[in-house]
Amino acid sequence: MSAEMLRMSLIFVLAMSMVVFMATAAPKVGFYQRSCPSAEAIVRKAVNKAVAKNPGIAAGLIRMHFHDCFVRGCDASILLDSTPGQPSEKEHPANNPSLRGFEVIDEAKAKIEAKCPKTVSCADILAFAARDSALKVGGINYDVPSGRRDGRVSLQDEPTQHLPSPSFNAKQLEESFARKGLSLDEMVTLSGAHSIGVSHCSSFSDRLYFFNATHPQDPSMDPIFARNLKKKCPRSSNNDRVTVPLDVLTPNRLDNKYYTDLKNHHGLLTSDQTLLTSRSTAGIVRNNARFGTAWANKFAAAMVKMGSIDVLTGRHGEIRNNCKVVN
Ligand code: HEM
Ligand SMILES: *[C@@H]1O[C@H](CO)[C@@H](O)[C@H](O)[C@H]1NC(C)=O
Repeated sequence: MSAEMLRMSLIFVLAMSMVVFMATAAPKVGFYQRSCPSAEAIVRKAVNKAVAKNPGIAAGLIRMHFHDCFVRGCDASILLDSTPGQPSEKEHPANNPSLRGFEVIDEAKAKIEAKCPKTVSCADILAFAARDSALKVGGINYDVPSGRRDGRVSLQDEPTQHLPSPSFNAKQLEESFARKGLSLDEMVTLSGAHSIGVSHCSSFSDRLYFFNATHPQDPSMDPIFARNLKKKCPRSSNNDRVTVPLDVLTPNRLDNKYYTDLKNHHGLLTSDQTLLTSRSTAGIVRNNARFGTAWANKFAAAMVKMGSIDVLTGRHGEIRNNCKVVN
C-alpha cells in the first residue's frame, strides 16, 4: 500500500469513528466540568437545604425523576407547566396533587442560570437532585452521567400508558419496567424507593374495603396493620390531605427496611406487597431484606440505568431557560 493510500484510509477510519461517536453521544459523568463546574454543587446545596427542612422533599425528588424518565424519557417533561388548552404531565392524577419538590429544581436552576446561562439542562438538574436526595436520606452515593437535553412536549394523558399503577401485580410491574429496558431485579430494587415518603389513602384504600366479592380486605395485608390504616383512611372519606408512610419501620430513611415491611405483610400498596406474594420476586425481596449494602449498590446502579431511559443528547432537544416552559 502506498503512503498516500494509507493516509487516506486512516482519515476515513477517523472520520467514520467521529460519525459513530456523535450519533451515540451518551450522557457522561462530569459533562459540565468545563462549561459549568459548580452545577452539581449548586444542586446539592439546594437539595440539602430543602431536605433538612422537610425530609419528604427527598422522596418527592426521587419520585419526580422516576416519573420524568418513564414518560418520554428523562427529558424534564414532568417539569413543564400546562399552557392554555394544553394540560401537561403535571396535571395527571399520578402527579397532581402528590408530586412535590418542584421549587427545589426551580431554585437550583435559577442559581445555575446566574452562573452559567443556557448551559445546564433541567433533566440533568433533576437527575442530580434525585441522587443528592438518596445521599442525604440514605447515604447512597453514585456518579450521575449528564448531558441530557430538555424535551419540548408534555401531555397530561401520557403518564397513564407509561407509569405502573399501584394496583399492578408482579407480572404487570415486570412488563411495565421491561418496556423501559429495566429487568425484574431492577424493578424490585427500585421499588425500594418506597422506603421513604408517603401515599395518599386513595392509592391503597381498595385493599382495606373493596378487595373482591368475597374478601373486603386484602388477605396479603396484616389485619392489625389494616385496622390501623382504616382509622387513618375511613371508607367514605376522600381526603387529599391525609397521607400514610410507605415504610412504617424507617419512614424517613432510604434503606432496605422496606423489604422487611413486605416480609411482615406491611407493604402499603398492592404493587409493594405483590413482590413478596409472587414467586418470581419473593426471593429478591428476601435477599434485599437481608443484604442492605448489596441492595444499596444495586439501587444506585438501577437509578443510573433509569436515568438513561430515552435521553435526548447532541442536537436533539434544548437547554430550557426556565424549567417550567419551553424556550
Ligand atoms: C413499581 C412500581 C411503582 C408504583 C406502582 C408506584 C406507585 C406509587 C404511589 C401510588 C405512590 C403514592 C402516591 C400518593 O398517593 O401520594 C408512590 C410514592 C412514591 N414513589 Fe412510587 N411507585 C413505583 C415505583 C417507584 C420507583 C421506581 C420510584 C423511584 C425510584 C418510586 C418512588 C416513590 C417515592 C419516593 C414515593 C413517595 C413520594 C412522596 O412522599 O412524595 N416509586 N409510588
Ligand atoms: C377473593 O380473594 C381471595 C384471596 O385472594 C380468593 O381466595 C378468592 O377466590 C377471591 N374471590 C373472588 C370472588 O374473586
